[in-house]
Amino acid sequence: MNKTFKAMVVSEVDGKFVTKITERKTDDLPKGDVLIKVKYSSLNYKDALSAAGNKGVTRKYPHTPGIDAAGIVAETQSNKFKDGDEVLVTGYDLGMNTSGGFAEYIRVPADWVVKLPVGLSLKESMILGTAGFTAGLAMYKLELCSEEKIDGEVLVTGATGGVGSLAVALLSKNGHHVVASTGKKDKANYLKILGVKDIIGREELDNQSEKPLLNRRWKAAVDTVGGNILATVIKQMDYRSSVASCGNVLSPELNTTVFPFILRGVNLLGINSAETPMELRVKIWQKLAAEWKLDCLNKIFTECPLEQLNEKIDLILQGQISGRVIVKI
Ligand SMILES: NC(=O)c1ccc[n+]([C@@H]2O[C@H](COP(=O)([O-])OP(=O)(O)OC[C@H]3O[C@@H](n4cnc5c(N)ncnc54)[C@H](OP(=O)(O)O)[C@@H]3O)[C@@H](O)[C@H]2O)c1
Repeated sequence: MNKTFKAMVVSEVDGKFVTKITERKTDDLPKGDVLIKVKYSSLNYKDALSAAGNKGVTRKYPHTPGIDAAGIVAETQSNKFKDGDEVLVTGYDLGMNTSGGFAEYIRVPADWVVKLPVGLSLKESMILGTAGFTAGLAMYKLELCSEEKIDGEVLVTGATGGVGSLAVALLSKNGHHVVASTGKKDKANYLKILGVKDIIGREELDNQSEKPLLNRRWKAAVDTVGGNILATVIKQMDYRSSVASCGNVLSPELNTTVFPFILRGVNLLGINSAETPMELRVKIWQKLAAEWKLDCLNKIFTECPLEQLNEKIDLILQGQISGRVIVKI
């Protein structure tokens, strides 16, 4: 049945990108074998880039952003799901060039859909969203690639952001001594709720020397910012330690030498949540719902309706959001 539904639509008008909440028809959604009635979505940095007209994220407008969605199967041609199933979708092409979760309905291939794991509500799954999934994937890879027990300080950069907050919380829950790097001096209490042990200003990680190596400090690191901060972190990594590179809010550039890798055995691990194969994807979601389930989830989000999302998009582009924003649809 062709249903009318509410959605955020970003259009290009005279070279500017304009956002409107408007009515769309389910017949206009892309082909796919699962139609999902969205209950919650969440705001990630990539959504803000899509809403702002970044052609590296979204090529064609008008477009509905939203790389995350959790909701209920409304119609399906796939025998993997039935009407009424609670499901979530994060990543793949959702919200990039496929109409996304800032809407009452999405239609996607069944291969993108994950059954909501036991232990998480739809709302909790979106407090985590792509940010939580990425943080979980980063921790999983850091622990998997460690040649020895990670025993010492573990750094998280961009610590009050979405991926950063959840990386701090997950690593702390798993018993690591987490040091948070942040540009927000007033967020110490927030970071303590997440379990952080120490906080440093992000300027401490902006070393300008030409030295290829600096004093060894970190036993593992999750970086969400890239640029000279990641370059500095790599120089400070301890022997045989690993850095998970997740993001580029500061810069996509990375100026490094090979010395940290060949003299200290440092591993640089790439994290790509969007294309994570289904088997590993389900495994990470199940962990997030069980042994990694965070007590602090309810303290790290703000909720907003579609109508107020624009203000939050501006804030995330300015690096001003702490924790997660979920969108109640
Ligand atoms: N690889 C993947 O699969 C994957 C998945 C999700 C996200 N990402 C990427 O990860 C990054 C973070 O995403 P997010 O959704 O967590 O964004 P976010 O909520 O906006 O968090 C980014 C944080 O970075 C810090 N920051 C902002 N501007 C900065 C600057 N100029 N220099 C240094 N630090 C700065 C801020 O934290 P402080 O104030 O605490 O420093 C900010 O809260 C983005 O680049 C995103 O595209 C990648």
